[in-house]
Amino acid sequence: MESLVINGGNRLKGQIRISGAKNAALPILAASLLSPEPITVHNLPALEDVKIFVSLLRELGVSVESGTEEGQKGVVCLDAANLSSFEAPHDLVRKMRASVLVLGPLMARLGRARVSLPGGCAIGARPIDIHLKGLELMGAKYSIAGGFVEVKTRGLKGARIYLDFPSVTGTENLMMAAVLARGTSVIENAAKEPEITDLARMLNSMGARITGAGSSTLNIEGVSGLSGTEWSIIPDRIETGTYIMAAGAAGGELELIGAEAGHLESAITKLRAAGLKIECSQNAIRVRSRGRLKSVDIKTQPYPGFPTDLQAQFMVLMARAGGLSVITENIFENRFMHVAELQRLGADIKIEGRSAIIKGVKKLTGAPVAATDLRASASLVLAGLAAQGRTEITEIYHLDRGYEDMEKKLRGVGADISRITHEGGSGK
Ligand code: EPU
Repeated sequence: MESLVINGGNRLKGQIRISGAKNAALPILAASLLSPEPITVHNLPALEDVKIFVSLLRELGVSVESGTEEGQKGVVCLDAANLSSFEAPHDLVRKMRASVLVLGPLMARLGRARVSLPGGCAIGARPIDIHLKGLELMGAKYSIAGGFVEVKTRGLKGARIYLDFPSVTGTENLMMAAVLARGTSVIENAAKEPEITDLARMLNSMGARITGAGSSTLNIEGVSGLSGTEWSIIPDRIETGTYIMAAGAAGGELELIGAEAGHLESAITKLRAAGLKIECSQNAIRVRSRGRLKSVDIKTQPYPGFPTDLQAQFMVLMARAGGLSVITENIFENRFMHVAELQRLGADIKIEGRSAIIKGVKKLTGAPVAATDLRASASLVLAGLAAQGRTEITEIYHLDRGYEDMEKKLRGVGADISRITHEGGSGK
C-alpha cells in the first residue's frame, strides 16, 4: 500500500508544466472507435484512468501503440479497423465510470453495445438515464439485465434531444452517436465544458459536421463515415486550478506553464476575490499568494460556473481564510467526503444539506487522513501543504487516477512530499 507523506509549511516557488486534460483525453480515446482509420493522440496524460480506458479499447479490438521513443511521451496511435467486441465488462467499468463513453461510439459504428452499469460511487448515484433516453430518441432500444445495459439499433437516425441536465459524458456520448446517424441531430441544454468543444473539434477534423460546441445547442449533421486524424489534447483546467490553489494553500509564487486561463474564468475570479494575485498570459498563469486569504462563497455549477472538480480544493483555502464562507455543491449529492478528513487537521466545517459552512481557522495541523475520491485526495494534499507538521494520506490510488506526477511536480517547486510504500501491499 502506498501513501503520501507531507511535511507542511514550505512555501512554493517555481514552474509547473500542466498536463493534458484527463476529461478531454477519455472521450477523445473513445472517439477512436468511430473510424476504421488510425487516430494519433498527442499530449495524453500518463494517468491510471487513461490506462484503464486504453485496456477497455484493446478489449473491444482496437490496436493501440504508445510512442516509446524520445520526445514521444504522451503519444498514442489507435486503430479501430477491426472491432471484435461491443461489450464494456464489469471489471473495467467498476474501476472507472467514464468507461460508459464507449456507448455512443459503439452504437454509431456497430449499432450495438453492452455496457456494465456503472452504479453509484463515492460522490453520488450517477445514473446514465440521460445517455439512454437520447439514444432511444435516435432509434435505439435498450434493456437492462444482469447489471448490464444492452442497446441496439438497426441504424441511428438524427433526432432533437433535450437534456434534463447538461451532463458532460451524456453530451459526449450523444454527440459521438449522432456523428454517424442518418440525418441531423440537435442536442439542447448540452454541456458547454471545454472538453466538449475539444471533442467536437477533434470529430470535425475526422470529417464530422458539428456546430455550436461550447454553447447549449449542438447541431450535428450525420455523415456516412469518418477518417483518421491527429489530435493534441487541451491542457487540464482542473489540474491548473489545483496548482493555483496549492500556491494559495502553501503560500509562494508559481508559474503554470501551458495553462489555458480562458477555461478557468469563474474559478480565477473567485480566487482573486479571495486575495490571490493571478496574472494570465497566452500560455501560462502566474499566481502569487501572501498573507491570509479572505473568505468567499462559491456554488458549483455546470461550465462556465465554478467547477465541482475544484470544490474540495477551494474548501482547503477557505478552511484557513479570515472569516466565514459557504460552499454549495450543486452537481453531485455526496461530494463532501473530504470534510471529515479536513476536520482531522483542525478545520471548522459544518455541513447543512448541499452546503458546507466553513469558519476559517488560523492554523491546520498535520494528521493521518484517507483519500476518498480523486478531487478529495487533491484537497488533502493541499491541506497537508498548508498544515503544520506531518500529514500522511492513504488510499492515494485515487490521486493517481487523475493527476500526472503530482508529488514530483510539487517537490520540484519546494514542497516536502514523498511517496512511501508500506509492506504487505501492491500500492493499490
Ligand atoms: N446525471 C443524471 N443522469 C445522467 C447523467 C448525469 O442524473 O444520465 C447527473 C449526475 O448524477 C450528476 C450530474 O448529472 O449529479 C452531473 O453529471 P455529469 O453527467 O455531468 O458528470 P459526468 O459526465 O459523469 C464529468 C466528469 C466529472 C465531473 C462532471 C461534472 C468526465 C470523465 N467526468 O462526469 O469528473 O465532475 O462531469 O463536471 O468527464 C473528475 O474528474 O474528478 C470527475 C468526477
